[in-house]
Amino acid sequence: MKRRRFLASTAAVALLTVGLTSACGGGQSAGDSEAAGDSEAAGKGTLTMATSADYPPYESVDTTSGSEEIVGFDVDIARHIAKELGYELEITNMDFNGLIPALQADRADFVMAGMTPTEERKQNVDFSDIYYDAKQTIVFPKSNAITGPDDLGGKTVGVQLGSIQEGLAKDLAEKTPGMKLSPLNRINEIVQELKSGRIDAAIIEDTVAKGFLANNPELTSVEIPEEGPVGSAVAFPKDSELTSEFNRVLGEMESSGMMEELINKWFGDGAK
Ligand code: ARG
Repeated sequence: MKRRRFLASTAAVALLTVGLTSACGGGQSAGDSEAAGDSEAAGKGTLTMATSADYPPYESVDTTSGSEEIVGFDVDIARHIAKELGYELEITNMDFNGLIPALQADRADFVMAGMTPTEERKQNVDFSDIYYDAKQTIVFPKSNAITGPDDLGGKTVGVQLGSIQEGLAKDLAEKTPGMKLSPLNRINEIVQELKSGRIDAAIIEDTVAKGFLANNPELTSVEIPEEGPVGSAVAFPKDSELTSEFNRVLGEMESSGMMEELINKWFGDGAK
Protein backbone atom coordinates (compact mmCIF):
# COMPACT_ATOMS: atom_id res chain seq x y z
CA MET A 1 0.00 0.00 0.00
CA LYS A 2 1.46 3.30 -1.03
CA ARG A 3 1.31 6.37 1.09
CA ARG A 4 2.69 9.31 -0.71
CA ARG A 5 4.16 12.29 0.87
CA PHE A 6 3.12 15.79 -0.06
CA LEU A 7 6.03 17.76 -1.42
CA ALA A 8 5.52 21.43 -2.08
CA SER A 9 8.57 22.13 -4.17
CA THR A 10 8.11 22.01 -7.91
CA ALA A 11 11.48 20.34 -8.23
CA ALA A 12 10.01 17.33 -6.51
CA VAL A 13 7.10 17.00 -8.90
CA ALA A 14 9.04 14.94 -11.40
CA LEU A 15 10.02 12.48 -8.72
CA LEU A 16 6.42 12.07 -7.74
CA THR A 17 4.97 11.45 -11.16
CA VAL A 18 5.33 7.69 -11.07
CA GLY A 19 3.68 7.42 -7.68
CA LEU A 20 0.84 9.74 -8.60
CA THR A 21 -0.36 7.74 -11.54
CA SER A 22 -0.36 4.40 -9.81
CA ALA A 23 -3.34 2.68 -8.24
CA CYS A 24 -4.73 3.95 -5.02
CA GLY A 25 -4.17 2.40 -1.61
CA GLY A 26 -6.69 0.71 0.64
CA GLY A 27 -9.39 2.78 2.22
CA GLN A 28 -9.83 5.12 -0.68
CA SER A 29 -13.01 5.05 -2.68
CA ALA A 30 -13.40 5.80 -6.35
CA GLY A 31 -15.50 8.77 -5.27
CA ASP A 32 -12.54 10.42 -3.63
CA SER A 33 -10.45 10.54 -6.74
CA GLU A 34 -13.31 11.57 -8.96
CA ALA A 35 -14.29 14.42 -6.71
CA ALA A 36 -10.79 15.82 -6.64
CA GLY A 37 -9.92 14.89 -10.20
CA ASP A 38 -12.58 17.20 -11.61
CA SER A 39 -10.96 20.30 -10.22
CA GLU A 40 -9.20 22.77 -12.49
CA ALA A 41 -5.84 22.10 -10.90
CA ALA A 42 -6.16 18.32 -11.14
CA GLY A 43 -2.89 16.53 -11.52
CA LYS A 44 -1.17 18.45 -8.74
CA GLY A 45 -0.90 15.23 -6.80
CA THR A 46 -2.56 13.10 -4.17
CA LEU A 47 -2.98 13.99 -0.53
CA THR A 48 -3.08 11.13 1.91
CA MET A 49 -5.39 11.61 4.84
CA ALA A 50 -5.03 9.30 7.81
CA THR A 51 -7.99 8.73 10.07
CA SER A 52 -9.46 6.36 12.62
CA ALA A 53 -12.78 5.47 11.06
CA ASP A 54 -14.49 4.38 14.26
CA TYR A 55 -15.95 7.77 15.07
CA PRO A 56 -19.31 8.47 13.46
CA PRO A 57 -20.42 11.03 12.47
CA TYR A 58 -16.83 12.34 11.96
CA GLU A 59 -15.70 9.20 10.12
CA SER A 60 -16.84 5.61 9.87
CA VAL A 61 -16.80 2.76 7.41
CA ASP A 62 -20.04 2.68 5.46
CA THR A 63 -21.06 -0.95 5.71
CA THR A 64 -24.56 -0.38 4.28
CA SER A 65 -23.53 0.12 0.66
CA GLY A 66 -21.09 -2.80 0.58
CA SER A 67 -18.41 -0.41 -0.64
CA GLU A 68 -16.63 -0.16 2.73
CA GLU A 69 -16.15 3.49 1.90
CA ILE A 70 -15.05 5.83 4.68
CA VAL A 71 -17.69 8.51 5.10
CA GLY A 72 -18.42 11.36 7.52
CA PHE A 73 -18.16 15.01 8.41
CA ASP A 74 -14.34 15.01 8.29
CA VAL A 75 -14.37 13.18 4.95
CA ASP A 76 -16.70 15.73 3.37
CA ILE A 77 -14.51 18.56 4.60
CA ALA A 78 -11.33 16.84 3.42
CA ARG A 79 -12.81 16.13 -0.02
CA HIS A 80 -13.83 19.73 -0.44
CA ILE A 81 -10.45 21.09 0.64
CA ALA A 82 -8.51 18.65 -1.56
CA LYS A 83 -10.66 19.60 -4.51
CA GLU A 84 -10.26 23.33 -3.86
CA LEU A 85 -6.49 22.93 -3.61
CA GLY A 86 -6.33 20.75 -6.72
CA TYR A 87 -5.36 17.42 -5.18
CA GLU A 88 -6.78 13.97 -5.32
CA LEU A 89 -7.58 12.44 -1.96
CA GLU A 90 -6.59 9.08 -0.56
CA ILE A 91 -7.83 7.98 2.85
CA THR A 92 -6.08 5.49 5.08
CA ASN A 93 -7.68 3.96 8.16
CA MET A 94 -5.74 3.13 11.33
CA ASP A 95 -6.03 3.11 15.11
CA PHE A 96 -6.35 6.57 16.63
CA ASN A 97 -3.18 6.02 18.60
CA GLY A 98 -1.18 5.59 15.37
CA LEU A 99 -2.26 8.82 13.68
CA ILE A 100 0.34 11.22 15.05
CA PRO A 101 3.18 8.71 14.53
CA ALA A 102 1.97 8.36 10.91
CA LEU A 103 2.34 12.12 10.40
CA GLN A 104 5.74 12.12 12.04
CA ALA A 105 6.91 9.32 9.76
CA ASP A 106 5.49 11.17 6.71
CA ARG A 107 3.15 8.29 5.99
CA ALA A 108 0.28 10.78 5.68
CA ASP A 109 -0.06 14.42 4.63
CA PHE A 110 -2.72 15.24 7.16
CA VAL A 111 -4.99 13.72 9.79
CA MET A 112 -8.68 14.40 10.23
CA ALA A 113 -10.12 12.32 13.03
CA GLY A 114 -12.13 14.64 15.25
CA MET A 115 -8.74 15.36 16.74
CA THR A 116 -8.33 17.97 19.46
CA PRO A 117 -5.32 20.28 19.17
CA THR A 118 -3.76 19.78 22.61
CA GLU A 119 -0.54 21.43 23.74
CA GLU A 120 1.08 18.01 24.04
CA ARG A 121 0.25 17.08 20.44
CA LYS A 122 1.43 20.49 19.24
CA GLN A 123 4.94 19.47 20.26
CA ASN A 124 4.88 16.89 17.49
CA VAL A 125 2.47 18.11 14.82
CA ASP A 126 0.90 21.34 13.58
CA PHE A 127 -2.84 22.02 13.62
CA SER A 128 -5.26 23.99 11.50
CA ASP A 129 -7.84 26.29 13.02
CA ILE A 130 -10.57 24.51 14.99
CA TYR A 131 -13.52 23.60 12.75
CA TYR A 132 -15.91 22.08 15.28
CA ASP A 133 -16.54 22.03 19.03
CA ALA A 134 -18.11 19.29 21.15
CA LYS A 135 -18.31 18.24 24.83
CA GLN A 136 -17.25 15.29 26.98
CA THR A 137 -19.77 12.82 28.33
CA ILE A 138 -19.80 9.72 30.51
CA VAL A 139 -21.60 6.85 28.72
CA PHE A 140 -22.90 3.93 30.81
CA PRO A 141 -25.55 1.21 30.92
CA LYS A 142 -28.84 2.53 32.32
CA SER A 143 -28.57 -0.04 35.13
CA ASN A 144 -25.57 1.86 36.60
CA ALA A 145 -26.50 4.89 38.67
CA ILE A 146 -24.01 7.50 37.49
CA THR A 147 -24.81 11.20 37.76
CA GLY A 148 -21.34 12.63 37.18
CA PRO A 149 -17.59 12.06 37.53
CA ASP A 150 -17.86 11.67 41.32
CA ASP A 151 -19.77 8.42 40.81
CA LEU A 152 -16.85 6.81 38.93
CA GLY A 153 -15.21 5.67 42.19
CA GLY A 154 -14.69 1.89 42.12
CA LYS A 155 -15.70 1.75 38.44
CA THR A 156 -13.80 0.60 35.35
CA VAL A 157 -13.93 3.29 32.70
CA GLY A 158 -13.27 2.72 28.99
CA VAL A 159 -11.47 5.31 26.89
CA GLN A 160 -9.88 5.38 23.46
CA LEU A 161 -6.13 4.81 23.67
CA GLY A 162 -4.22 8.01 22.95
CA SER A 163 -7.29 10.25 23.07
CA ILE A 164 -7.84 13.30 25.23
CA GLN A 165 -10.57 11.26 26.92
CA GLU A 166 -7.84 8.93 28.16
CA GLY A 167 -5.98 11.95 29.56
CA LEU A 168 -9.12 13.22 31.23
CA ALA A 169 -9.88 9.80 32.72
CA LYS A 170 -6.34 9.60 34.13
CA ASP A 171 -6.83 12.97 35.82
CA LEU A 172 -10.18 11.89 37.23
CA ALA A 173 -8.74 8.57 38.43
CA GLU A 174 -6.14 10.43 40.49
CA LYS A 175 -8.82 12.07 42.58
CA THR A 176 -11.42 9.28 42.45
CA PRO A 177 -10.73 6.32 44.75
CA GLY A 178 -10.89 2.95 43.04
CA MET A 179 -11.56 4.29 39.53
CA LYS A 180 -9.78 2.10 36.97
CA LEU A 181 -9.03 2.78 33.31
CA SER A 182 -9.57 0.44 30.40
CA PRO A 183 -7.87 1.95 27.34
CA LEU A 184 -9.11 0.41 24.07
CA ASN A 185 -8.22 1.02 20.44
CA ARG A 186 -11.65 1.42 18.88
CA ILE A 187 -14.84 3.13 20.01
CA ASN A 188 -16.87 0.07 18.87
CA GLU A 189 -14.88 -2.08 21.29
CA ILE A 190 -15.67 0.36 24.09
CA VAL A 191 -19.38 0.11 23.30
CA GLN A 192 -19.20 -3.71 23.21
CA GLU A 193 -17.41 -3.77 26.57
CA LEU A 194 -20.08 -1.51 28.05
CA LYS A 195 -22.88 -3.72 26.78
CA SER A 196 -21.27 -6.90 28.09
CA GLY A 197 -20.64 -5.30 31.49
CA ARG A 198 -16.86 -5.76 31.32
CA ILE A 199 -16.54 -2.02 31.87
CA ASP A 200 -18.94 0.18 33.86
CA ALA A 201 -18.67 3.45 31.99
CA ALA A 202 -16.78 5.20 29.21
CA ILE A 203 -15.78 8.76 28.39
CA ILE A 204 -16.79 9.71 24.86
CA GLU A 205 -17.47 13.01 23.16
CA ASP A 206 -21.16 14.00 23.09
CA THR A 207 -21.64 14.12 19.32
CA VAL A 208 -20.18 10.63 18.92
CA ALA A 209 -21.94 9.22 21.99
CA LYS A 210 -25.27 10.42 20.56
CA GLY A 211 -25.08 8.01 17.62
CA PHE A 212 -24.05 5.03 19.74
CA LEU A 213 -26.85 5.80 22.24
CA ALA A 214 -29.41 5.91 19.44
CA ASN A 215 -28.36 2.39 18.37
CA ASN A 216 -28.01 0.99 21.90
CA PRO A 217 -31.06 1.92 24.00
CA GLU A 218 -29.64 0.18 27.07
CA LEU A 219 -26.96 2.89 27.29
CA THR A 220 -27.30 6.47 28.46
CA SER A 221 -24.98 9.42 29.13
CA VAL A 222 -24.31 12.41 31.33
CA GLU A 223 -22.24 15.45 30.42
CA ILE A 224 -19.04 16.23 32.33
CA PRO A 225 -19.86 19.82 33.17
CA GLU A 226 -16.48 21.16 34.23
CA GLU A 227 -14.77 20.14 31.01
CA GLY A 228 -14.77 22.87 28.39
CA PRO A 229 -15.44 22.32 24.70
CA VAL A 230 -13.42 19.72 22.82
CA GLY A 231 -12.45 21.21 19.48
CA SER A 232 -11.48 19.36 16.34
CA ALA A 233 -8.74 20.51 13.99
CA VAL A 234 -6.75 19.08 11.09
CA ALA A 235 -3.25 17.84 12.02
CA PHE A 236 -0.19 18.09 9.76
CA PRO A 237 3.45 17.13 9.95
CA LYS A 238 5.44 19.98 11.52
CA ASP A 239 6.01 22.91 9.13
CA SER A 240 3.76 21.50 6.43
CA GLU A 241 2.84 24.09 3.82
CA LEU A 242 -0.64 22.62 3.79
CA THR A 243 -1.57 24.15 7.15
CA SER A 244 -2.11 27.68 5.82
CA GLU A 245 -3.78 26.43 2.64
CA PHE A 246 -6.22 24.34 4.66
CA ASN A 247 -6.92 27.30 6.97
CA ARG A 248 -7.74 29.44 3.98
CA VAL A 249 -10.28 26.94 2.63
CA LEU A 250 -11.70 26.26 6.13
CA GLY A 251 -12.24 30.02 6.48
CA GLU A 252 -14.01 30.14 3.12
CA MET A 253 -16.18 27.20 4.15
CA GLU A 254 -17.18 29.06 7.32
CA SER A 255 -18.05 32.30 5.53
CA SER A 256 -19.90 30.67 2.66
CA GLY A 257 -22.16 28.74 5.03
CA MET A 258 -20.88 25.41 3.73
CA MET A 259 -19.52 24.39 7.13
CA GLU A 260 -22.91 25.08 8.72
CA GLU A 261 -24.54 22.91 6.05
CA LEU A 262 -22.14 20.04 6.72
CA ILE A 263 -22.66 20.38 10.48
CA ASN A 264 -26.41 20.12 9.93
CA LYS A 265 -25.93 17.20 7.58
CA TRP A 266 -23.84 15.14 10.00
CA PHE A 267 -24.81 16.35 13.48
CA GLY A 268 -28.43 17.33 12.89
CA ASP A 269 -30.00 20.79 13.13
CA GLY A 270 -29.28 22.60 16.34
CA ALA A 271 -26.28 20.42 17.15
CA LYS A 272 -24.19 23.55 17.32
N1 ARG B 1 -11.26 14.47 20.29
C1 ARG B 1 -10.60 13.39 20.94
C2 ARG B 1 -9.10 13.50 20.82
O1 ARG B 1 -8.58 14.26 20.09
C3 ARG B 1 -11.03 12.04 20.43
C4 ARG B 1 -10.88 11.83 18.97
C5 ARG B 1 -11.07 10.39 18.56
N2 ARG B 1 -11.15 10.27 17.13
C6 ARG B 1 -11.37 9.13 16.44
N3 ARG B 1 -11.44 9.19 15.13
N4 ARG B 1 -11.50 8.00 17.06
O2 ARG B 1 -8.40 12.79 21.48
